[in-house]
Amino acid sequence: MPLTRSLSVTSLSGLEDWDEEFDVEDAVLFEIAWEVANKVGGIYTVIQTKARLTSEEWGENYFLVGPYMESNVRTQVELIEPTNPALRRTIDKMNSSGCKVYFGRWLIEGSPYVVLIDVGFTAWSLDRWKSELWENCGIGVPWFDREANDAVLFGFLTAWLLGEYAAQCEEPPHILAHFHEWLAGLGLVLCRQRRLPVATIFTTHATLLGRYLCAGNVDFYNNLSNFNVDKEAGDRQIYHRYCLERAAARCAHAFTTVSQITAIEAEHLLKRKPDVVTPNGLNVKKFSAMHEFQNLHAQSKARIQEFIRGHFYGHLDFNLDKCVFLFIAGRYEFSNKGADIFLEALARLNYLLRVNHSEVTVIAFFIMPARTNNFNVETLKGQAVRKQLWFETTVQHHPQGFLEGLWDTAQTVKEKFGKKLYESLLTGHLPDVSKMLDKEDFTMMKRAIFATQRQCQPPICTHNMLEDSSDPILNCLRRIGLFNSSSDRVKVIFHPEFLSSTSPLLPMDYEEFVRGCHLGVFPSYYEPWGYTPAECTVMGIPSVSTNLSGFGCFMEEHIADPSAYGIYILDRRYRSVDESCNQLTSFLFQFCQQSRRQRIIQRNRTERLSDLLDWRYLGRYYVSARHMALAKAFPDTYFYEPQEPTSKQGFRYPRPASVPPSPALSRHSSPHHSEAEDEDEERYDEDLEAEKDRLNIRQPFSLQIRNKTSLPYVAPTSNGN
Ligand code: UDP
Ligand code: G6P
Ligand code: GLC
Repeated sequence: MPLTRSLSVTSLSGLEDWDEEFDVEDAVLFEIAWEVANKVGGIYTVIQTKARLTSEEWGENYFLVGPYMESNVRTQVELIEPTNPALRRTIDKMNSSGCKVYFGRWLIEGSPYVVLIDVGFTAWSLDRWKSELWENCGIGVPWFDREANDAVLFGFLTAWLLGEYAAQCEEPPHILAHFHEWLAGLGLVLCRQRRLPVATIFTTHATLLGRYLCAGNVDFYNNLSNFNVDKEAGDRQIYHRYCLERAAARCAHAFTTVSQITAIEAEHLLKRKPDVVTPNGLNVKKFSAMHEFQNLHAQSKARIQEFIRGHFYGHLDFNLDKCVFLFIAGRYEFSNKGADIFLEALARLNYLLRVNHSEVTVIAFFIMPARTNNFNVETLKGQAVRKQLWFETTVQHHPQGFLEGLWDTAQTVKEKFGKKLYESLLTGHLPDVSKMLDKEDFTMMKRAIFATQRQCQPPICTHNMLEDSSDPILNCLRRIGLFNSSSDRVKVIFHPEFLSSTSPLLPMDYEEFVRGCHLGVFPSYYEPWGYTPAECTVMGIPSVSTNLSGFGCFMEEHIADPSAYGIYILDRRYRSVDESCNQLTSFLFQFCQQSRRQRIIQRNRTERLSDLLDWRYLGRYYVSARHMALAKAFPDTYFYEPQEPTSKQGFRYPRPASVPPSPALSRHSSPHHSEAEDEDEERYDEDLEAEKDRLNIRQPFSLQIRNKTSLPYVAPTSNGN
């Protein structure tokens, strides 16, 4: 009689806390995604940030499976021999049958094992596998769709891996395979079709049709139940992709998605209601001192200011200390990511700041990768001029940071001046100041001034765009007339490449950059989750998101007054585009009116929300999905009890009791400290922490599992399989 295993995770660090009966040795977890050690967008962030927690739970029995990409492996993976004997035999067998499969440790937090498959190496099997796919599943993939071809190769190879692993195990194994997104979904379908002993989970991070329909001009959310899905997919030439995605969703033992809003979308478009919503978390870094993240903001901001000095050289007629840095970042999906309404709102904000004679200058960054052929000369020149002319200023402010480097104009003149002054004092006389600098010095200084003058406006775009004339951001800027002219209170910088600390232009990685900004603006129309505002939150940077994004809805549900915490949620669901644009303009205008002190208070509040987004809290939904899949696939061995809602799930951050961040309501808007405000804020802090403890929000998840005889397994949904 098979052993009945009950699952009980009472400590996130601990398999040691699982029930004695549960023999963890024979259960293995494979997590399969195209973005394993391969950065494309947010799915990479899910896998990469969750790895530490999942490794802690599954230890040696956790394997991530992804595509082999040489450049990624060189920088992120340490290749080693497989430690698990069955897996070693599996990989050897596959490699001796014409595959190239690698094994290693991914050098990220948690150092998880990775199995990386070179799909290109097995491309010779593509036609054969496509025919098999057609014969067995009725899905035909056209030759010209490269991404779908990769999906076919990756799918057949991962199913081969799992099947071979099952065959190589001495005891019947308990394999759990978690597949992410349609690109990895075929492996799941093949596991079911081949009846492999594998419990399967499929997580969709967006639906293909949702993304395509929203990017076109469709009133998506009001018509969700009316779409003729096959026709819509066919019209967009993605029918084969759609079939792969829908088959994976339908075949999975457990189907999950990243937010409630995408769950509804999936129910209509993929025709299966997700069993569990698995919201995306992050690895929250806790600093020992509360003010440390504020210091990081100040340091990163100083570096952005330096960049601005160079970018606007010759036109630096605004006060850098009164600049507010806004940004939008992510894959370049112009309207899905809301870049369209952000631009429109910036034009309106420009007008408002002008007519109100505001001293604030807004600099809005667009960080969205597009096709370019390198940085443009004008931007590089700006940074070169800055390095030359601002050397002296920087040396004064950060003497330790600039011991090496070129002598700049000001430095040379200062040296000469100092020398003459010294010589004059040595003679015992006060110097004749009019003779301290000669003609040559003036010529040099004039040349330096001329070098800083520009005939053209400061550039909008940092790179040479390949499709300049049809680029949506540039075209929109041309239409609304934001050209970085000196009368504009809103300036725009378009950086069409993800940020990197090795860039000669803006040498900062994305995290540093976010920390240095004041507000992230993500007014998405289609956004199943949206990591970018979540990342802002854990770094204590306020952000704008929407009630059409998974993140925005999640925050709305968990916080009584989100905007007081710097979480501005734009209404894109019940308002017209123009109304949403006005609402965004008003958020931005209010934000620009905040004093420094109000911004500091607001950042403190934003950062306090981090616990809510920590994998230590959100990881529980993954645990739940895994248990569900295991119980469905191996009913004699595992059982699963769906959770009753607990008080924890109802947790809401209360409205802050103290000083509101809105200037209109503030009792004290000066940058100086008011003791009453500080006391209020401290009292609020203590109350909030006590509330979090009372509700156990920081405690790890505990799945209530009872004896199998007293509680039969209840299928969570009736659909799917
Ligand atoms: N990102 C990045 N570098 C950048 C801009 C963005 O690494 O310069 C990352 C960001 O940290 C985030 C991801 O890109 O984790 C975007 O994820 P999101 O869920 O917001 O959107 P997706 O692209 O998946 O639709
Ligand atoms: C942090 C630093 C302060 C600095 C402030 C600037 O809070 O700890 O020293 O004054 O940032 O804030 P701001 O919103 O003006 O960039
Ligand atoms: C997708 C979605 C994004 C989500 C990410 C991770 O790419 O577009 O909203 O945050 O997946 O789940």
